[in-house]
This record gives sequence, C-alpha cells and structure tokens, in this order.
Amino acid sequence: STLKAFVDPLPVPAVAKAVGVRQNPEDSKEQIPFYHVAMREAMVKVHRDLPPTKMWTLGGSFPGPTIETQIAKGMIVEWMNELPAKHFLPIDHSLHGAGKDVPEVRGVVHLHGGRTPPESDGYPEEWVVPGKSQTCFYPSSQHAALLFYHDHTMGINRLNTYAGMMGMFIIRDPREDVYALPSGKYEIPLLICDRMLKTDGQLEYPVSEKTGEVWVPEVFGNAILANGKLLPYCEVEPRLYRFRVMNGSNGRFFRFSLESGAEFYQVGSDQGLLVAPAKLKRVTMAPGERADLLIDFSSMAGQRVNFVSDSFSILQFRVGKTAAGERGVVPEKLHEFERIAESSAVKTRQLTLDENMDDIQRSMGMLLNKTPWHAPITEKPVLDSTEIWELVNLTDDSHPIHLHLVRFQILDRRRFEAFHFQDKGELWFTGPVVKPDANEMGWKDTVRCDPNMVTRIIVPFNGYAGRYVWHCHVLEHEDNEMMRPFEVVKG
Ligand code: C2O
Ligand code: CU
Repeated sequence: STLKAFVDPLPVPAVAKAVGVRQNPEDSKEQIPFYHVAMREAMVKVHRDLPPTKMWTLGGSFPGPTIETQIAKGMIVEWMNELPAKHFLPIDHSLHGAGKDVPEVRGVVHLHGGRTPPESDGYPEEWVVPGKSQTCFYPSSQHAALLFYHDHTMGINRLNTYAGMMGMFIIRDPREDVYALPSGKYEIPLLICDRMLKTDGQLEYPVSEKTGEVWVPEVFGNAILANGKLLPYCEVEPRLYRFRVMNGSNGRFFRFSLESGAEFYQVGSDQGLLVAPAKLKRVTMAPGERADLLIDFSSMAGQRVNFVSDSFSILQFRVGKTAAGERGVVPEKLHEFERIAESSAVKTRQLTLDENMDDIQRSMGMLLNKTPWHAPITEKPVLDSTEIWELVNLTDDSHPIHLHLVRFQILDRRRFEAFHFQDKGELWFTGPVVKPDANEMGWKDTVRCDPNMVTRIIVPFNGYAGRYVWHCHVLEHEDNEMMRPFEVVKG
C-alpha cells in the first residue's frame, strides 16, 4: 500500500539550549556556554500512518536539536554515549576498525565544516562506548555558515549516521543583517536524507548478496525524509523564504527543484554566503553539501507547490493567500571576497580517487591515492600555507570529497583519459577547463568529483596544527578505506 502524501506538517528541529557555562580553553577570562547532548535511542514518528521508527540520535530527536551560535563565540559540547549495548544495524567486522576486537557500540561526533582544534574534531578512532562521553570545544572563529554535526566512528560511521546521529549547527554573523535575508519563522533549516523503510516503519540497512560480505558500496533508500518526516507539507506565506538545506544521505545525490519549474536563488554554499545570488531552476547536492536557498512564493499565493528531486516528491509547500508583512527582497550582491590566486599556493598535490579491486575485479571498496587508512600520514601541509589539491578520479562514481578543519575554493574541473593515466601516470586532458558553476563559487568544504575528471581545489590550511582527516562523504566509501588522515604541521 502507498502512504498518503502531505499529511504531516514539516517539523523544524528545536534549538539546543545551553545547560551551563564552562571556561573558554583559549581564554581563561571568558565563560562560554556549555551544552550536553546524549547519543541515544529514540522512537521517531516519520509519518502519520507508520508506527514510530527506532533511530539512534544525538539529543533524542531526528534531526538532533539545531545548535546556534555567533561567529567567534565559542562553546563546549559534551556528547554523552547513552546508546544500548547492541547495534541494531548489520556491522561488517571485516572492515578496518570494526573488528571483533572492538566494542560493537561506539560513537564519536564530528562538527562538519567547523574550524575545530584537533582534539575536539572527533577523530574516527577516538570513539567512546556507552557510559562514556566526549567533550568538544567549538570556537566558531570562522564565517557564518550552516554546519552539521554527525557521527564519525571508524568502520561503523555509515551505520550510526544512517541510524540518525546527526543535526544542524548554524553560525551567525550580525554583519550579515544588512542583506535582510528572511529570518525567524521565514528561515527554515532543512535536513534532507534518504532511508530504506520497511512497511512496519523500521529502518533497513541493506546487506550485500553479491559478495557474501555485509558491506555494500552504496545505499539508496525508498523514502526521503525532510527534517525526519516522510512527505510532509509546509505552510508558507506568499513572500520570500530562506531554506538552509543540507544533504544528509549516505550516498544519494539530490537534484532539487520546484515541480512547477519556478526559479529560486542560491545565496550560500557550504561555508557561507556567495558573492552574489545565483538564479537556478535546479540545484545538485552531494552528501555533505549545503545550499542556502531563497524561494519567493509571492507570485504563488493560494497554490500548492511540490519540492522534488528528480521523480521523488519531498515536501509540499502550501502557499497562503496573504503575507503578514513585508515580502522580502533578494539582495543583488552579497559579501565580497577574493578568489585565491593560484600563484599563492606553495605546493600542488596530485591525489587519485581509486576503486580497490581484488584479483577477479570485484570491488573491495575505494581508496584515496591508493593508500589505506592505516598507512603512515603522507599529506602534511604547513599551517597557514596554501596548497592546490588535484583530485584525479579514476573510478566510475562521483565522490564528494571533504576535508576537515579547512574551507577551500574550487578552481576547475577537466576531463582526462583515465587509461592513459593508469598506464603512464600522466594527465592527458580530453576536454576544456570547466570553471565551477555560479553556486560553487563560494567557500566550500565538500566538493563533487565526477568520474573521469580532475577536480582542482585551492586550500588555505588555516586554524590549527594537528591531525585531521579527509574522505569521501559517501559514507559507505568512507567506512571502507576512502578516508585518510592528514596533518597540519607548524612551519
Ligand atoms: Cu561530514 Cu568527516 O565529515
Ligand atoms: Cu566516494
């Protein structure tokens, strides 16, 4: 039977409340807010006509509470593991870090997009077991942006995150008030992800039949959840709205549009506002990417407009007849910032994205630069230096590559001959240099690397020295060796 569409209102996650103050570890005279968030099991109602879904959450809801702060206003978060003793999704014990020698239930939280000191970044091997907690300092000394927090546990990150361990984190900057972007109830954070739901409403995580192993290379669900609801509706006024959208899927890329074909604007990407709004009919988002969208409903009074991704309906906007106040204006320009000159890079690294095949050409997972996780660190950028990373994709998949700690700009993409590269180790380009799209011209922390393309990014390694990770944000790839440590070293 099919579920009735658009019967539940779109929920907006509650804003997390501090439970006290702690001393700022970087400034002994300052007291900063202290939050306590539990990793815990919860029953989540995803649709009116489905029984509640068992999920593992951060903070007891899915998505977890939205954490809000201002730039340079630090906070401490204690992530407390209160999960049950057994996992409810199928663990593949053959994956690195998920062996029988470690406890089954582990958790460690990473703030995606945060310029975070290394000891608070949620290193995949620094997981905690039930009864233990991890305490993190998030300085937020960076641009205003929509970040998100999620599990990052070695070998089972794809399962913990799929189970629901994620939420949004918004850094605000009062200097952005001049753009008068929609705020309050006219600004809606929107975490969209796919999941496989059984008819009893429970999560299913697929198991590979082909290889006899548990790990599968990708997961695509039959249900798309918007802030944890399946096919909700959202009542809006005929005016301008701001949607802070993130793709929280394990592996699905979305191509969002309004079914009516109406245009909308993208004003920001992963790490904050663009230089100017980009007018779009469709926006592509890989797992881990964020898009700050303005939708103007003022010409749609009284209409119902579906928000879709390809053939999937996601939610329905129900536009009221009248707006309570001003309708809002799309700013013409946003904040100025420089494109980083290529000449400022002190080093260019060529790094391949590879499929790891066994003797009989079966996929064993993916790799970065043909190097497994546990090999010694090979990328050691110098603190406050700028590097160019050329990501040479030798696989047939598109991989969203994410670097912790930093923000970067996309230089360009260019098609090349993969066989020639495999053979001779040199790049033989077969297409023109493709500049990033207008909505990719801002600061990024996750970049889509399409097959047979070299994607070049320019990265200032600012913030902290120490050990971090970079990886593919398709979580199945990340868990099966498509993740590597890097170390920022003092010059
Ligand atoms: Cu959103 Cu290392 O991840
Ligand atoms: Cu990947």
